[in-house]
Amino acid sequence: MQVSNLLFTKSAANALQSWCHEKGFESIYFLCDTNTYQYCYPVFKEISDKVIVIPSGETHKQLRMIETIIEQLVAFGAKQNHLLVNLGGGVVTDIGGFAASIYRRGMKCINVPTTLMAMADAAIGGKTGVDHQHLKNYIGTFYQAEMVLISTEFLATLPYEEFISAWAEMIKTGAILDAGLFKMIEEDALLDDILKRCAECKQSVVQMDVFDRSHRQLLNFGHTIGHAYESHYLNISRPVKHGIAVAKGMMAELEIAKTSGYLTETEATRIQSLIQTKMSVEPMTLAEWTEVKKLLWADKKNTGTDITFSLPVAIGKGKFGIKMKEEEIKI
Ligand SMILES: NC(=O)c1ccc[n+]([C@@H]2O[C@H](COP(=O)([O-])OP(=O)(O)OC[C@H]3O[C@@H](n4cnc5c(N)ncnc54)[C@H](O)[C@@H]3O)[C@@H](O)[C@H]2O)c1
Repeated sequence: MQVSNLLFTKSAANALQSWCHEKGFESIYFLCDTNTYQYCYPVFKEISDKVIVIPSGETHKQLRMIETIIEQLVAFGAKQNHLLVNLGGGVVTDIGGFAASIYRRGMKCINVPTTLMAMADAAIGGKTGVDHQHLKNYIGTFYQAEMVLISTEFLATLPYEEFISAWAEMIKTGAILDAGLFKMIEEDALLDDILKRCAECKQSVVQMDVFDRSHRQLLNFGHTIGHAYESHYLNISRPVKHGIAVAKGMMAELEIAKTSGYLTETEATRIQSLIQTKMSVEPMTLAEWTEVKKLLWADKKNTGTDITFSLPVAIGKGKFGIKMKEEEIKI
């Protein structure tokens, strides 16, 4: 399966216009959330005025939103060979990709990420989907966007906490796949350079293992516990940012990597320090861990009574498919 091309640009509107002109799309629809409609869509208004706007936030990443989007696509008379532009953060690109993948058995879509999180990670790789109540990403498909158009022009309006949240996925990618990227983050390289390296790193891992059967699972570092942490807070109607959950998950999984002998104390501490420096995130409390443990066994990536982890074995190098029993997991 061909993985989406990445296109880095300084003007998303110009790049999109020429790309659509070249491909000859008859109709183009935008999917935005309320914020990206206000802050990002205006640069595209000459391209199309057919816009679907959904409420912002993780709590709306539910199946009913897919139905709403499909109803609007039907009302627009959208066809399979028309184009849906998912303009937003990871919530919009996950939801929009999923809607596109099932609308008339698959309509064309592209992702234009507007958060740092989506530019570095979420918009790339073709994992689409929604949460099922509080269970993260339980329903979804693999569906590659035709292209991922990345322009940092949209970051000007991004709230500060969204920047912070994005560091989690970038540190994760460096820690488990790319020592050079990790060093760039440590040394405060230019954000555009870090972003490009991270996005390309993710794309190349996806290219090797589109359906997440092996190597791609490395990207799950921090997510086994992170998703359970995120699910716990969704469950009690106090959603936390995905990146914060992943950071908490990485902190905990680094303890596991250390105690089980996969990673040296020095390297684990180096990764934990970078998380703390960039994100000011502390390890989860004992009370949180008690709740998170209950949910871990409901995580979709796990089979039987074993929990599966992807852990770094050195900075920039990881191992996936590490199975552990409940009693072996200590943070
Ligand atoms: N599919 C994948 O491979 C993958 C990978 C990582 C994360 N994800 C998913 O991504 C989601 C998190 O993504 P996110 O952090 O981008 O969250 P998000 O999409 O909820 O965006 C965060 C907030 O920023 C607002 N926003 C977006 N762009 C803006 C802009 N330019 N200016 C002002 N406000 C803006 C949004 O409206 C929202 O309120 C989670 O659901 C997570 O599961 C998916």
